Amino acid sequence: MCGIIGCVGRGDRTVETLLSGLSTLEYRGYDSAGIALANGSIDVVKKQGELDALEQVVDTTTLSGSVGIGHTRWSTHGPPSDRNAHPHTDTEGNVAVVHNGIIENYQELRDELEREGVVFTSDTDSEVVPHLMARSLHEGASPRDAFRDAISQLEGSYAIAAVVAGADTIFAVRQDSPLVLGIDDDAYYLASDVPAFLEYTRDVVYLEDGQFAELRADGWTVFDHEGTETTPTVDTVEWSAEQTGKSGYDHFMLKEINEQPTALRQCLSGRVDEVSGGVTVDELDDLDTPSAVQFVACGTSYHAALYATTLLHEVGIPANAYLASEYATTHPPLPNDTLVVGITQSGETADTLSALRNAESRGAETLALTNVVGSSAARECDHALYLRAGPEIGVAATKTFSSQLVGVNLLVERLRPSGSPTGELRSLIAGLRDLPGHVQQVLDDSTALELVDELFGAEAFFFIGRGLHYPVALEGALKFKEITYEHAEGFAAGELKHGPLALVTENTPVFAIVTGDDEEARKTLGNIKEVEARDAPVVAVTDGKAEVERYADYVLEIPETHERTSPVLANVQLQLVAYHMAARLGRSIDKPRNLAKSVTVE
Ligand code: F6R
Repeated sequence: MCGIIGCVGRGDRTVETLLSGLSTLEYRGYDSAGIALANGSIDVVKKQGELDALEQVVDTTTLSGSVGIGHTRWSTHGPPSDRNAHPHTDTEGNVAVVHNGIIENYQELRDELEREGVVFTSDTDSEVVPHLMARSLHEGASPRDAFRDAISQLEGSYAIAAVVAGADTIFAVRQDSPLVLGIDDDAYYLASDVPAFLEYTRDVVYLEDGQFAELRADGWTVFDHEGTETTPTVDTVEWSAEQTGKSGYDHFMLKEINEQPTALRQCLSGRVDEVSGGVTVDELDDLDTPSAVQFVACGTSYHAALYATTLLHEVGIPANAYLASEYATTHPPLPNDTLVVGITQSGETADTLSALRNAESRGAETLALTNVVGSSAARECDHALYLRAGPEIGVAATKTFSSQLVGVNLLVERLRPSGSPTGELRSLIAGLRDLPGHVQQVLDDSTALELVDELFGAEAFFFIGRGLHYPVALEGALKFKEITYEHAEGFAAGELKHGPLALVTENTPVFAIVTGDDEEARKTLGNIKEVEARDAPVVAVTDGKAEVERYADYVLEIPETHERTSPVLANVQLQLVAYHMAARLGRSIDKPRNLAKSVTVE
């Protein structure tokens, strides 16, 4: 996820407008930033690091032009660096392009352009666009046709803005990545998100997938995918500039919970093929199937590791999950040909890095499953698989956990030993394909807010689940305690009767996750009855198949889906419960007391 800005008609305030727009978009990415101004030629300034690094360079230059584009980057292809920062240009510097999204067929396009002699100067997928445009311009196409021609060759998700030397126009397109136009009396804007230009205008046009836009000093035009001019609706947004960054949500956490459908689409993009029923992860091309896997992780990421071990057992690979902080001191044997996987959204957690270094020093091959390209874990491990969830600002991990569960599925299918049964793969891929839509359904229909009113004031909150739902029970409790400061514990459903049941009273609601109607579900129903007999309020998080409603006081529904994707949906319900309870208690949701986003000490 990256942030795009563009403006026309701001005269000598163009640079200032681009930089202030980028500052409100920095939540979308902050590993590098850049701007390009078009006059008779194109001037580009870009820099690795947060926006102030770019601002310092801009201060030392004299940029001019009243047509400009800018970008703040969240790496998906290529680590953060000056050369990978946007805007990207063609070889002669006549075209500059900013891009948000993923171009799935970029390698094919890059190979083709390289065969024609084009020299690429970055590792990004985005750089193919200016080179494709330059090729068309050389063949005599107009800037508009060159842009259209380049876009017609792309597969994937993108919001793109381009400028061409000599053409006082911004060319833009949207496909599965947000792009909105801002319309003022004598200036026009485009951005990934409204706050980027909200201080100038509230009149906006939300581009639809496949639509193109052109912004010129004398006006703006939107075209459909066939190039026919359209008359889009101009909406007026109600937000104030103060709400910027959170896009109108009260908290980053709620915004990030709501971003999960997009995050999951990005994680899956180009990696699952419904037709062949296959999983492809380019980053892991040179990874062989190991004899065993050990996961090292902390907190929420450890819960993803627990989920992952169950999946690996299903495909016949021995696997263990270790709390990273315990790994080095408990000396787990490390048989030959063991892959050690660090699950860490930040890629900077000291305990996880230390466990990975311990494994590496004992000869293990290592892999980082992380959201941050160029993070320490990504750089130090032999392999890295990226989550592509976009930046997460709230301290409590939400969208990165969902993406970890999906990422783990990709990893496991990539490691599946040849000869192990693949009959289920097609239905898994269907489950993954449906997942973003199912998450959206949960977000739209959840009754978590009403439930919080019912449970407010309880003494403690317990969470139970079996199999793949056990890590979700742990995660539900962790999220709840982290942001509400209330006592919450997660248990394997079958363990209740071995001790924790002593804590269960009419004042301790129990959240029970139960999906399907198999043996596992029936056993969880038995555990629910044990709780019910102690008068505890039961909240069932269920797809309805086990008819648990008969024993539950409240129900949080999730759509019926594949057994590997239902834990993601159950978890979204629990995220909402934790969020609404914390909001009702007036807690500091995005920055809970005593906690930090990335824990860089052991
Ligand atoms: C909880 C949470 C933490 C992190 C843990 C590891 O909401 O976010 O428990 O999961 O500190 O962080 P990463 O994944 O960055 O290694």
